Parts: sequence; structure tokens; C-alpha cells
Amino acid sequence: MDRIDTVAALRARLRSWQGEPIALVPTMGNLHAGHLSLLAAAQAHARHSIVSVFVNPLQFGPQEDFARYPRTLESDSRALERAGCELLFAPSVAEIYPDGEPATRVRVQGLAEQLEGRVRPGHFDGVATVVAKLLIISAPTVAVFGEKDFQQLLIVQRLVADLALPVKIVGVPIVRDADGLALSSRNQYLTAQQRALAPLLYRTLSQIAAALRAGVPGEEQRLALEQQGIGQLEQAGFRVDYIAIRDATALSEPTPASRSLVVLGAARLGATRLIDNVRVPG
Ligand code: PAJ
Repeated sequence: MDRIDTVAALRARLRSWQGEPIALVPTMGNLHAGHLSLLAAAQAHARHSIVSVFVNPLQFGPQEDFARYPRTLESDSRALERAGCELLFAPSVAEIYPDGEPATRVRVQGLAEQLEGRVRPGHFDGVATVVAKLLIISAPTVAVFGEKDFQQLLIVQRLVADLALPVKIVGVPIVRDADGLALSSRNQYLTAQQRALAPLLYRTLSQIAAALRAGVPGEEQRLALEQQGIGQLEQAGFRVDYIAIRDATALSEPTPASRSLVVLGAARLGATRLIDNVRVPG
């Protein structure tokens, strides 16, 4: 595997691939089996695979963990090499934002302001801006994102449609630990006691999803299910940001016309924030 850290070197490499299909996997590093499943999907979709590792300052709020976000490029590089990745693109902040904060921002209105966007103002503008830039720099045929960040996946799909970027967005199912906890770079912040509690988020979302098998709920039932979930988590010691039953396509509150639903949740254990979601089967 080659490691490239400048845009110019990446573009030179892309030219040598002479138009053959490329799959890009954008990440912030500290890779785990969830990220590697994205790479496997990328490899299944295209002859050439690129994984980018870039901790994007634009998507962290002033009180968030940008400075202490785990940076483990050497072990990430070894894991990618073992998994047969062809190219690691690991630029510095100065390489991606040479003039400091970029004046040009990408905002996916509507989708970006609710749920995660409400709790983390500006977060998705940072995500959309860097994803647009990575897609423009590497011009992949396919780009792969995890369903773990369900709202992010919908935002990227919308951004690509709105800007007519010639790339297919592929979503990959959530990889979980045996007890159901979705893998995340932030799980390592949990104490042993918090780690034991953490799978309750997934169990709560799954219970709500199971209760929705019968069909789209009315507003009263929806609010009651969301409240029950919040209560169950708070009683166990979580601080809940939201539990929300949404239309899985528009992320709006469900209507009788909704064809598929998703239950999303975000909650904190101590200083660690967990997010997860479960699709309603059927
Ligand atoms: P990061 O949190 O590193 O995640 C990179 C990709 O891995 C995302 O598409 C995310 O949804 C996916 N992922 C994380 N945990 C997963 C799991 N347990 N199962 C499946 N996929 C999982 O998301 C970002 O970085 C950034 O916002 C980024 C898109 C790179 C833009 O900076």
C-alpha cells in the first residue's frame, strides 16, 4: 500500500490509473472493523481503493474533542495494508485548508439542521464541506459511508445529487460488538462500568423498532415510544440527546405515506457521546 499526503501527489496517482473505477472511503482514522467493512465494500465495487484519514477540524464544535480525537496513523496504516487497501491518503490540516478556514462552505439545508445538527450546530456543514472537497479531489466512481452515521449518509447522498457529482454513494450496514454496541472510535473513552451499560442504547432502539413492525405510528404512539425509550435510558444513567422515529428517506417525522422508518438515538455516558440507529424491518 502507498501512503500519499498531498493533493498534487494524489492527483498524479489518479492520472496513472487512467480512468479505471475508483472507490473512496473517507474516515477520520483510528480504524476499527466498521471502517474495514467499508473498505471491503469499496474493494467489491471498484478496481482501485483509496481510504482517506483526515481529522476534519471544521466538523468539531468549540467544546468538542478535536484536540483529543485519537490519531493512530501508524496502526491504521498497518490495518489497511493487511486488508489489501491500495492507497492511503492522509493529508495534514494545512494541506486540505491551506488558507485556514475555507470561505466556501457546503450546507445541505433542512437535513443538516435536525437531530445531530441541532445538538451539534455547524457539524454537518463541516462534514459536507470536507466530503465535497474529498470527492472533488479524488473523483471516485464510488464513495462508501457507514449507516452508523445515518443522517450523515443521507446528507452526503443529497449533496451529491444537488451538485451533480458523478459518484455513486454506497451505504454499508453497522458493524457491532457481540453485545450490540455499534463500533466507534469513541467507545474507548468509556469506563468499564459505562461500557457495560452502553449496549442499552442499541437494545432500546431495537425495542422501539420492533414495536413499529405493525406500521407507521400515529403521532401519539410515536411520542409515547420515544418517551419510553428516553425514560429507560435516563433511568440507567444516560443523558439522552434524542430518541427519534423518522422516515428513513427524508428523515422527516413519519407520515402515513412513509415507506420505511428508522429509529435514531444519541445519548451520553459521562463525557462520551454514543449514536446509533435501527431500521424498522418490513
Ligand atoms: P469516521 O467517524 O471515522 O467514520 C468514517 C466512516 O465509517 C463513516 O462513513 C461512518 O459511518 C463509518 N463507520 C463508523 N463506525 C461504523 C460501524 N460501526 N459500522 C459501519 N460503519 C461505520 O464519519 C466520519 O468519520 C467523518 O464525518 C467523515 C465522513 C470522514 C468526514 O470527515
